[in-house]
Amino acid sequence: MKRVMKGIDLEKWTSKLKRIEDKVERLALLSRLSQILNSSLEQQEVRKRAMEAATHLMKAQVGSLLLIDEKREKLYFEVALGDKGEAVKTTTLNIGEGIAGWVAQKGKSLIVNQPERDARFYKAMDGKTNFKTRNLICVPVKVKKKVIGVLEAINKWDEADFDDEDLSLFTSLADQVAIALDNSRLYQEQEEMFFQTAESLADAIEKRDPYTGGHTQRVTLYSLAIARYLSMSPIEKKWLKIAAVLHDIGKIGIEDQILKKPAQLSPEEYDVIKHHSDLGAEIIEHIKQLKEIIPGVKYHHEQVNGRGYPQGLKGKDIPLLAKIVSVSDTYDAMTTDRPYRKALTKGAAVQELKRCAGSQFDRKVVAAFMEAYRKGEI
Ligand SMILES: [Fe+2]
Repeated sequence: MKRVMKGIDLEKWTSKLKRIEDKVERLALLSRLSQILNSSLEQQEVRKRAMEAATHLMKAQVGSLLLIDEKREKLYFEVALGDKGEAVKTTTLNIGEGIAGWVAQKGKSLIVNQPERDARFYKAMDGKTNFKTRNLICVPVKVKKKVIGVLEAINKWDEADFDDEDLSLFTSLADQVAIALDNSRLYQEQEEMFFQTAESLADAIEKRDPYTGGHTQRVTLYSLAIARYLSMSPIEKKWLKIAAVLHDIGKIGIEDQILKKPAQLSPEEYDVIKHHSDLGAEIIEHIKQLKEIIPGVKYHHEQVNGRGYPQGLKGKDIPLLAKIVSVSDTYDAMTTDRPYRKALTKGAAVQELKRCAGSQFDRKVVAAFMEAYRKGEI
């Protein structure tokens, strides 16, 4: 029996109120998801979060982010979550092919609640993934009016159809995804440019010293291999990479006569060379973004027994970045020819590192080096 109070249809008002509550809840969810999306600058992470957000916000079984590969003129599944995510991940579509291809080509959104009746629907996809598409919603992801990809959600929960309210929310999410993707792309480009600049600087120093060709690359490679066997966070590994690339930047301030001397250095000359770690730190101090790597550059010739330079630091007072660069640097110096001596064999150099673990080098770093060496990574 219908409940009517003083001419008010209670059921009608209750269901209206429920719809408003739902809408407010979904808007709050959209706002939370947007914050989560924009709190990362890692491209892979942003893409994964975009997928999770699409699935969650659309109350869908599967969500996908398809990005346009301009060179190949294809649309490829960047990530797809849900049960069939793995199967879908490797698939590419031509622009214009399937619903997603149509949305990418036209830059318009689409709701398809009966895919079997839509000629644009790409049936082969269901076959490939053993998946039955019941309905789907698809919106373009645009950066400065240019379509860079497509956000898609498939199979709404509870057998329901996608509607205009879904479309409006999904479009807002796609705008947030576009901003987050663009920010992460810009960040990555900036980071790449930075690494290239650091590498060019290191290369400029190497070009002055013909005996150390490729030294910087090898020290970087060895340092990163060591880091894999130490518990270091991704950001610490990033700093390590830059410190390894720039560890000898201070040599730029050492005169050619000493730097290029084709014989063993005199004690006085060796004292001059020793300045390069302080000089390197001074050069880097000008770049505030590189604050974290200064210890790696400044102390890469310290020894855990306190007999190193420039400060004679001991054990735990030596920063980890410096301890790692020290092992890599010494190993490379031992295994390359110098004008006044032949290179040691790899085996002999490794024995030397082991012998000096605990005196010149940090034991844990040498142990990590050994592990990487045994696995053929060095
Ligand atoms: Fe050095």
